[in-house]
Amino acid sequence: MSNVFQGRSFAKEIDYTPQELAYIIDFSLHLKQLKKKGIPHEYLKGQNICLLFEKTSTRTRAAFTVAANDLGAAPEYLGTNDIQLGNKESVQDTARVLGSMFDGIEYRGYDQDVVEELAKHAKVPVWNGLSNQWHPTQMIADFMTLKEEFGELQGLNLIYCGDGRNNVARSLLITGTMLGVNVTIASPQRLLPEQSAIDLAKQYGEETGAEPMITSDIQQAVVNADALYTDVWVSMGEEDKFQDRLRLLEPYQINRQLTDRIEGDWILMHCLPAFHDTATDFSQYVSKHFDIQEMEVTDEIFRSDQARQFQQAENRMHSIKAIMALTNGNLFIPRV
Ligand code: CP
Ligand code: NVA
Repeated sequence: MSNVFQGRSFAKEIDYTPQELAYIIDFSLHLKQLKKKGIPHEYLKGQNICLLFEKTSTRTRAAFTVAANDLGAAPEYLGTNDIQLGNKESVQDTARVLGSMFDGIEYRGYDQDVVEELAKHAKVPVWNGLSNQWHPTQMIADFMTLKEEFGELQGLNLIYCGDGRNNVARSLLITGTMLGVNVTIASPQRLLPEQSAIDLAKQYGEETGAEPMITSDIQQAVVNADALYTDVWVSMGEEDKFQDRLRLLEPYQINRQLTDRIEGDWILMHCLPAFHDTATDFSQYVSKHFDIQEMEVTDEIFRSDQARQFQQAENRMHSIKAIMALTNGNLFIPRV
């Protein structure tokens, strides 16, 4: 007997129903328990998993690798300079070749069309490890973390502060609304989400009762926050926009002045990596040339008791494991 997940790709969240996403989150929590208790769960025993990365990664790569090993599968990393994709071979031909050898393919790259094209031609599940438009595996980990913290998702207020047009903002706005979370995107005018993303969120909101909000008034937006979420000011691939973003996003930094405005308890979330001090080459460069030592979140808030970003990072592994097992493990799931 097959199940509703078997054989499907995970290219973007809206390919799944809100109920299916909620099931993946609960299954991730279950797999976390199995791992903590040392109970084996080799649902993909004997499989081979391809990890295709056109951008750099710490969490996503590590999570797929460990999750594949825990599931009894063998992961193989193929970096952008290692293979012919895009240079000497088309996406379609690459999909057909890799799909004939591997049982599943993770892909991190630039345009969403590439991951969709891979999914169309590979004949095995393709999992999106981040594109310019979506970051679906991140979302399962993030809403799993919120469920761990608050017990249920319906009615929570999540405020995202920063670049409202990037992959994480779009994914949070739409996935959150699908799951009943009131997501507010607080961004400067020029970085507000595209109208199509807002319309889609509103459409899901009618189904789930969640109220997506878009604003440039960050000071007002945070007052009722349960979770404050931020991301880097410049995403991978748009480094040339850095100076402009600095100017636009400085007022959207998460700092003590901002968090003092929150009326109840709250948590900090960040997909990571984060620029909160000068401990990296890039932040040293920024410090030297622009006299800025902290960017999207201050070091104080990053290290505060409210911070949950490392819990999110760990949950990447459990949730990616759930996605692979559900779509490729022939599990017994009578209904969702
Ligand atoms: N959050 C996230 O996707 O991290 P990496 O870029 O390190 O994979
Ligand atoms: N918006 C960021 C997310 C990194 C996990 C980027 O695309 O670089």
